Amino acid sequence: MKLCMIGTGYVGLVSGVCFAELGNDVICVDKDIAKINKLKKSIIPIYEPGLEELVKKNYKSGRLKFSTDLAESVRKSNIIFICVGTPTIKNKYEADLSQVYSVTKEISKNIKSFKIIINKSTVPVTTGDKVEKIISLKVKKQLFSVVSNPEFLREGEAIRDFIYPDRVVIGTSEKKSNKILKNLYSPLISKGAKYINTSRRAAELIKYASNAFLATKITFINELANLCEKLDINIEDVSIGIGTDNRIGSRFLRAGPAYGGSCFPKDTRALIDTAKKSKSPLSIINTVINSNNKRSHLLLTRIAKILKNKIKNKKITFLGVTFKANTDDMRESASLKMIPFLNKKGAIINYYDPSGKKNEFEKYKNVKFKNNIKDACEMSDLIIVHTEWNEFKLLDLKKIVKKRNFIIYDMRNIYSAEKMKKQKIKYFGIGK
Ligand code: UDX
Repeated sequence: MKLCMIGTGYVGLVSGVCFAELGNDVICVDKDIAKINKLKKSIIPIYEPGLEELVKKNYKSGRLKFSTDLAESVRKSNIIFICVGTPTIKNKYEADLSQVYSVTKEISKNIKSFKIIINKSTVPVTTGDKVEKIISLKVKKQLFSVVSNPEFLREGEAIRDFIYPDRVVIGTSEKKSNKILKNLYSPLISKGAKYINTSRRAAELIKYASNAFLATKITFINELANLCEKLDINIEDVSIGIGTDNRIGSRFLRAGPAYGGSCFPKDTRALIDTAKKSKSPLSIINTVINSNNKRSHLLLTRIAKILKNKIKNKKITFLGVTFKANTDDMRESASLKMIPFLNKKGAIINYYDPSGKKNEFEKYKNVKFKNNIKDACEMSDLIIVHTEWNEFKLLDLKKIVKKRNFIIYDMRNIYSAEKMKKQKIKYFGIGK
């Protein structure tokens, strides 16, 4: 099939490359000329394991193309995916849909034969209706179909999530489009993915509801972890104990810092905005957002307690600063609140992250990037494991750190408290 992905951000690029890998002809379009030129040389704008190899392979085979010419790319394709960003509008909960609507207008000028226009961007319920309305101002109804097909790709695992999804959700009530899309996704369905055909509005809500539910699960376990700390219970025992009930499920029950990333914070806010506009409150999600917003402050209070309220001049190391492992993404990472706060209190901060130095911390005088774990940790009073990168999991910190009484605050529970006790290391985890 001939596909066109509009927007070569995370979703558009990963999906485009994977569709090419499945044998389709794919054009990935972006208005950013520099980005497209780099992609043509297989220089990848994001950190995603396995993506570069797939881009190289499919570009070389000719199945994957990159272009800045939206009009020509639309004309050459049968299925057009809208994959542009839908960030939160500043100081509001509402999603900014300006990019979705501007590419829709461009698409509508270039429809001469039947096209399926798919919204893969995460968009509030009824956006599909509006996209359809915009196109119908220029194009006859028989020549197009607007479908919702949300993505469920996790950063760092995006290729695996694309090739082996739990489900493919197609929101359309039109038989012809449903048949074509079922065929497009048939290689994934034959590997076990469930194919779910719903109304367009239901598909739009499924995306938000999925992310909001997962954010709720994490917030639930984070609050229980607070309780565990008070009652001398290990949260990991509780996660296993409840997660083995199939009705609950064991995933997304790891307590840690406030959840972050490009989706959970943005999508929970947008869902609240939709609920408000529909006059149907979602009080649970509101509570989740508030609890998560307060979490970094709560963990900072614990840091102060661990350091006996003497933060000034303390050497603190952050191992990992990204919102999770296997990504270079800093969006809404808890470290963005914690590092400036500790810096303001007079701490001297070193950080190391396998994905490299971060511009976000450049402006702080006493916050320094070190390009290896040893340099970051050796003079440290307190080591904070902020992100669960694999390379931190088997460190012998007793050997690395020169200070005798250093402390570890393991915000991802990657170390065993017993082992730390045996090594006589002062150790704190989350929810234990
Ligand atoms: C998420 C969704 O999982 C994905 O389906 C959607 O399409 C995009 O948003 P992503 O943001 O890449 O993916 O990360 P994810 O792995 O879901 O983690 C989100 C946040 O939750 C991170 O801050 C992570 O550290 C945190 N998390 C996750 C926990 O604190 N505990 C857990 O058990 C799981």
